[in-house]
Amino acid sequence: MKKIGVLTGGGDCPGLNAVIRAVVKKSRQYNWDVIGIKNGWKGLINGEMELLTDYSVSGILPKGGTIIGTSRTNPFNNKEDIQRVLDNINKFGLDAIVAIGGDDTLSVAKKLYDMGVPVIGVPKTIDNDLSGTDYTFGFDTAVSIATEAIDRLHTTAESHHRVIVVELMGRHAGWIATMAGIAGGADEILIPEVPFDLDEVCKNLKSRYDRGKKFSIVAVAEGARPKITDTSNEDNVTQSHDIEMGLITQTSEKDDFGHVRLGGIGHYLAKEIEKRMNVETRVTALGHVQRGGTPTAHDRVLATRFGVAAVELIKNNDFGKMVALQGNKIVPVKLEEAVSKTKTVDMDLYEIAKVFFG
Ligand code: F6P
Repeated sequence: MKKIGVLTGGGDCPGLNAVIRAVVKKSRQYNWDVIGIKNGWKGLINGEMELLTDYSVSGILPKGGTIIGTSRTNPFNNKEDIQRVLDNINKFGLDAIVAIGGDDTLSVAKKLYDMGVPVIGVPKTIDNDLSGTDYTFGFDTAVSIATEAIDRLHTTAESHHRVIVVELMGRHAGWIATMAGIAGGADEILIPEVPFDLDEVCKNLKSRYDRGKKFSIVAVAEGARPKITDTSNEDNVTQSHDIEMGLITQTSEKDDFGHVRLGGIGHYLAKEIEKRMNVETRVTALGHVQRGGTPTAHDRVLATRFGVAAVELIKNNDFGKMVALQGNKIVPVKLEEAVSKTKTVDMDLYEIAKVFFG
C-alpha cells in the first residue's frame, strides 16, 4: 500500500485533469491511495491536500483546467518553505510525488529529487518547450484554438483589406505561432528564436499588396523581439508596455521563478506596420483562451498515457524521471535532461513556414 501525492504547477493547461484521472485509476490497480496536493508546490508548503477517490475524478477527462488548482510558487525561494515541504511529505506519509508541470515546476521536482524525495515528472505546457519529449500535452489544443482564430481572422481581414496581427503565447519558444501559423496560412510568423527586422516584415507584406492580395495575417509569439539593430521600438512602444531586454512586457514585475509578464508585442507591431505601410491594421491577442476549455482527443490520449506511465515508474522505483513522448513511445528521461534547456522551434519547420511568407 502506497500513498502517491499529485500536484499541478505553473500555468494551467488542457489535459491536466486527464493526467490526474489516469494517476488515480492506475494507482487503484495497485490499491494505492492518491492525494491531491492543492495549488502546486504551495499546497505542499501549507499542507493542503485532499484524498482523490474514483468519485473525485469521475467526469473530469474532458474538463479544462485542474481540479486540484495550480500556482507559480517556488519553495526554493525560502529555506523555511523547503523545510515545510519536507516536513509535510513525512507528515502526510507520501511515498512518491507526481509533479505535473513545465520547466519551472519540474526544476523544483529535480532539486527535491536531488535531496532524496522520490519524484516523477509529467511534461505539461501549451508552449511545447520542454526538452526530452517530442510533445507536451496541451500544445495540440492550443494550436487548434489558435488555428481556428487565424481562420476566423482571415475572413474579416480580407473583407476589410486589413493587416491583422494575432498575438499568441510562447515565452521562450514560438511553437504555437509556428504550428498554428502554418496550419492557418499566416503571411508572417514571428517567434522568439528569430529576432525580426520590421523593414523585412513590411517588405514581405507589401509584396502581397503589390500582387493584389489586399490583406495579411501576421502571427506573433508574445516572446518575439525586434532585432537589436532595430532601435525604432523605443519610440513607438505605448506607455502601458515596458521593454525589457528587447521583450515587450506588460509590467516589469517578476513571478517566483523570475519571469516578467509578457504581452504587447502585437500592439507594437500593428502600430509599426500601419505607420510604415499605410494600411489599416488591427490586433487580436488570444491570451488565455489558448489555455482554456476542453483538451483535444490527441491531448486527452497523451495526458492519459503520461499519467499511467508515471504510476508505472513509481511501481518500478524509477524516480527522478519525467515521462516523455519519443516517436510514438512513452519513455522515461532524467528530470535533469528535461529542464536543462528550452526546446526551441525546429528551424527546418520554420523554413517550411517561411515558404509562405509574403
Ligand atoms: O504556461 C506558459 C505560458 O502559457 C506562457 O506562454 C505565458 O507567458 C504564460 O503562460 C502566461 O501565464 P499567466 O498569465 O497565467 O502567468
